[in-house]
Amino acid sequence: MSNINNLLERRKKLLGPASLFYDEPLHLVKGEGVWVWDNDGKKYLDVYNNVPHVGHCDPTVVDAICNQLKKINIHTRYLHETILAYGERLIATLDKSLSRVFFVNSGSEANELAMRIVRKNTGGEGFIASNWAYHGNTKAVFDLATGFRDGKPGSKYVKGVALPDMYRLPDGVNENNVAEIYAAKIKDAINEFEAEGIKFAGMIFCSTFATEGILRMPDGFMGKALQYVRDAGGLYISDEVQGAFGRLGKMWGHQQYNIIPDIIITGKPMGNGHPIASVITKEKFADTFQEDGRYFNTFGGNPVSCAAGMAVLDVMEKEKLIENVNEVGAYIQMRLQNLLEKYDCIGDVRGSGLFFGLEMVKSKISKEHDGELTHKLINAMAKNGVLIRSTGPKKSVLKMRPPIIFSKDNADFLLDTLDKTLSGLIR
Ligand SMILES: Cc1ncc(COP(=O)(O)O)c(C=O)c1O
Repeated sequence: MSNINNLLERRKKLLGPASLFYDEPLHLVKGEGVWVWDNDGKKYLDVYNNVPHVGHCDPTVVDAICNQLKKINIHTRYLHETILAYGERLIATLDKSLSRVFFVNSGSEANELAMRIVRKNTGGEGFIASNWAYHGNTKAVFDLATGFRDGKPGSKYVKGVALPDMYRLPDGVNENNVAEIYAAKIKDAINEFEAEGIKFAGMIFCSTFATEGILRMPDGFMGKALQYVRDAGGLYISDEVQGAFGRLGKMWGHQQYNIIPDIIITGKPMGNGHPIASVITKEKFADTFQEDGRYFNTFGGNPVSCAAGMAVLDVMEKEKLIENVNEVGAYIQMRLQNLLEKYDCIGDVRGSGLFFGLEMVKSKISKEHDGELTHKLINAMAKNGVLIRSTGPKKSVLKMRPPIIFSKDNADFLLDTLDKTLSGLIR
């Protein structure tokens, strides 16, 4: 039996039917920078992993983790300089009002805690999410996962609202009225909660609108949406698991919308693979939440995790990585526009910074989603040594978000391979 078949069989017995990436699953054994290697020594350009943010096995991060681990690892009920220095460094990059940090271990846990803070501060229970969302795996958070249930929420305390798809605006909707029309849907959802006797609590969106298909929100939409939420006494959680730490070209995802959320939550890239996540909120919301008792988390914010987080910020600063995101991101957008012009099956170019997508369609005229071609393409790309994936309700949007050390040379390799692979598939 081949090594892959052996692993597949053991995995199925042990982990059950949990899904795997790619039709021919990969057995990766080594990573360095933007590259990963499989067990046969084949090298792949990693254009999908937003967790090894500053590169796989970055030496600064690895050293920081090892050095702290050699000294002590304790929890946040003891005083520790690194925990405080890291938290202070994080909030220094945010609006002054966002000054309280809770450290946790995963994006799910962060959203769960954020929802508890919102409930306690508003007395409400009803949450608005998008109608193709994913925010994690605990019970409360998975109820928000409309993307796993064909757009439907998991409980009566959640409403999934439609977001604008600027590539396919319905008749009568245009750039000028789209923000108001879609923000009004949020107001409608708040009114529905009221009619059902459920007190409205708040709204949560992913700052990249990634599972929704990497959607671009029209100017003014987020501001109007937040106004309706706040007028109704609700709070806004910006889920920045995907959009923070420079990914979209600014330190924080919400900064592209000129809004200040009540709570932001972070995860994935924060420790470059070491599990650390956070909830950052305003002092008054944190204080009210803690009236019922102190919040404690055994592993969240331990010095080793904070040392990893600190090292990520060090590398980002030293290597000017947000500038790199903007420079290489603009170059990629330009080359993606060329592909858009070349191929009838590419309908739209999406994204910002180093988070970008291509909407694959049956034709530019029909704009019909082509999830089948997308599926073939991501598998063929993996065979050709480039790792990307898909997203969106019809899995028809190519999703690309490499480590933010991605260079123009890496971009050329990605885009040349994409061009070659696509032309081979549609021949
Ligand atoms: C937007 C968003 N929020 C939350 C989560 C959950 O994070 P975790 O898997 O760390 O619990 C994810 C994970 O993919 C996510 O994409």
